[in-house]
Amino acid sequence: MNNKKQLDKETILSKLNYNKKIILLDEVTSTNTFAKEFAKEDSDEAIIIANSQTNGRGRLGRTFISNKGTGIYISYLIRPKINLEDCKLITPLVCVATCNAIEELLLKENFQLDTKIKWVNDIYINFKKVCGILVEASTIRKNMYPEYLIVGIGLNCYEQDFPEELKNIVTTIEDETKIIISRNDLISAIINNIDYYLNNFNQKIYMQEYINRSFIIGKKVEIKQGEKSYFAKVKNILMDGSINIEKDDGTINNISTGEITKMVIKDETRH
Ligand code: BTN
Repeated sequence: MNNKKQLDKETILSKLNYNKKIILLDEVTSTNTFAKEFAKEDSDEAIIIANSQTNGRGRLGRTFISNKGTGIYISYLIRPKINLEDCKLITPLVCVATCNAIEELLLKENFQLDTKIKWVNDIYINFKKVCGILVEASTIRKNMYPEYLIVGIGLNCYEQDFPEELKNIVTTIEDETKIIISRNDLISAIINNIDYYLNNFNQKIYMQEYINRSFIIGKKVEIKQGEKSYFAKVKNILMDGSINIEKDDGTINNISTGEITKMVIKDETRH
């Protein structure tokens, strides 16, 4: 493996806009799980970075494949002073920050790429998933703000062997661009972008960008909510992160991600 591919704490730190505690691990079960343990013992913010995970976790109990040396597996432990009600906006914020970071770095290599977002937490390149985001919160009863949030980001950077059943569904930056991006530069760019949006949280500029990058608007979807399943058309994504849908029976309502156990896009038309 060439040097360009090695993770290096000092290089990451040198490119961050704000000084941070960084913990770099060669292998861990899950950086989100590690960050949770860390948060119990340390009151600081921190970035946990791993070269591989043996039990990378996704939303709804899914697994996130985290092969050694081929991706970015990080958990950013933050303690933002934002109302509990607004914590649901962190996933869209991080999606947009990550898209911007990927595109910024590729532009430096003269490669223009459009990254898209699949509501609520996945980033796509050319209709394949390249990144997933898992935000976990710890709250204390009666407190206005969360105790902490763990922002987990899994991003496939370099070509690798995925299980057969995922080959048409997931991809890597290298597969789509032929560019071997520096993981150190990408981690710093992601964190700097997240910090920028967190510093300007109440302006919600990230929400308009999130809506612009989303490819489910106008699509027919099958939604599973607990035991029931129905078809609907996504009419819009709202500024609170919920989706406005029209069911096949004509009823219109807004649903948030927490209410959905599965959503499958039915439209064949691709953006
Ligand atoms: C998803 O696809 O539903 C979200 C995937 C999130 C994966 C990242 S990798 C770093 C962090 N640690 C984890 O165990 N999960 C997140």
